[in-house]
Amino acid sequence: MQTDHQSQITDHQSQITDHLKIALIGANGMLATMIRERVPQDCNIHLFDLPDFDLNDRYQVVDVLSSLAPDVIINCAAFTNVDGAETERDLAMSVNGTAVGFLVEAALAVEATLVHISTDYIFDGQATTPYVESDVPNPQSVYGKTKLSGEQAVLNSDLEKYFIVRTSWLYGPGGNNFVETILRLAAEREELRIISDQVGSPTYTADLADAVFFLLAASASPQPPASSLYGLYHFANEGSCSWYEFACAIVEEAQKRNFPLKVQRIHPIATEDYPLPAKRPANSVFEKQKYKAATGADIPGWRDSLNAYFLQREARS
Ligand SMILES: NC(=O)c1ccc[n+]([C@@H]2O[C@H](COP(=O)([O-])OP(=O)(O)OC[C@H]3O[C@@H](n4cnc5c(N)ncnc54)[C@H](OP(=O)(O)O)[C@@H]3O)[C@@H](O)[C@H]2O)c1
Repeated sequence: MQTDHQSQITDHQSQITDHLKIALIGANGMLATMIRERVPQDCNIHLFDLPDFDLNDRYQVVDVLSSLAPDVIINCAAFTNVDGAETERDLAMSVNGTAVGFLVEAALAVEATLVHISTDYIFDGQATTPYVESDVPNPQSVYGKTKLSGEQAVLNSDLEKYFIVRTSWLYGPGGNNFVETILRLAAEREELRIISDQVGSPTYTADLADAVFFLLAASASPQPPASSLYGLYHFANEGSCSWYEFACAIVEEAQKRNFPLKVQRIHPIATEDYPLPAKRPANSVFEKQKYKAATGADIPGWRDSLNAYFLQREARS
């Protein structure tokens, strides 16, 4: 039996009936893995990633995408090593910032819609309430600055048909992520020390992939006009927690399933007790009303989605 959320997805997918041609950039990454799984059946998806396709190569990007002439370009490619970006500034800026401009150029040339994924790290995390799309960015890390530059490449262009979707704390199959790190550490160690003074919303890639297709479906339907829907959106799973609470929930899910774990205790610690090269926002929670109003879709809660990830993990093994 389908859940309400699943039937919403089916309804919306059936609205994308005109065999959209989609170019998926960064196609081997974690989010892209799910985009490939959740893409509506009647879409044609074309995959682009390193080493054959380098987003930093303007000529290649514009040439390849102009020849393909996709209806939609979904950009999941990024330099995502947040701490590594502190030392590899130029490469991070090139992929996350400059190269987004090449995608804009290609999208303008073939009148494609560009879906670009961004991050909570463009905020400084000092807000005491959930961030809305119009809040002023103030990135504290090189990664955040480069991702903001990518957003600006879209926002300051002539491109009208675009969605920038900011998300947070992503996990899913096909990538290094916090859930897998905690499962590995909990199997190796009796005690874990996890940061408890950074709060955000874990987001399952399956839900974000669905959100991308909800937005595309909404822009494909005649009412309201698509031009009023394009723009910047916040999307994350509902609810929020600290990294410590997230780790406790991951271990709880694993214990329910009798994973062979060593961990006995998880200790909450402060950010200053676990120094990292890149500064992270203390508050990453998003207000998601704009997304909900545009799509009419529900957003699953982070605990339900964590459970769904474990179920999917079991099904894959
Ligand atoms: N992960 C998170 O927690 C998180 C949170 C908020 C927002 N986001 C955003 O969500 C999006 C997807 O993240 P993700 O975690 O799925 O990323 P990911 O797993 O690191 O995937 C990124 C993909 O882009 C590819 N790529 C890197 N440089 C490229 C280039 N020059 N040309 C073509 N492809 C290139 C990577 O290839 P290689 O692996 O070969 O480098 C990889 O396949 C990104 O925009 C990220 O900023 C992520």
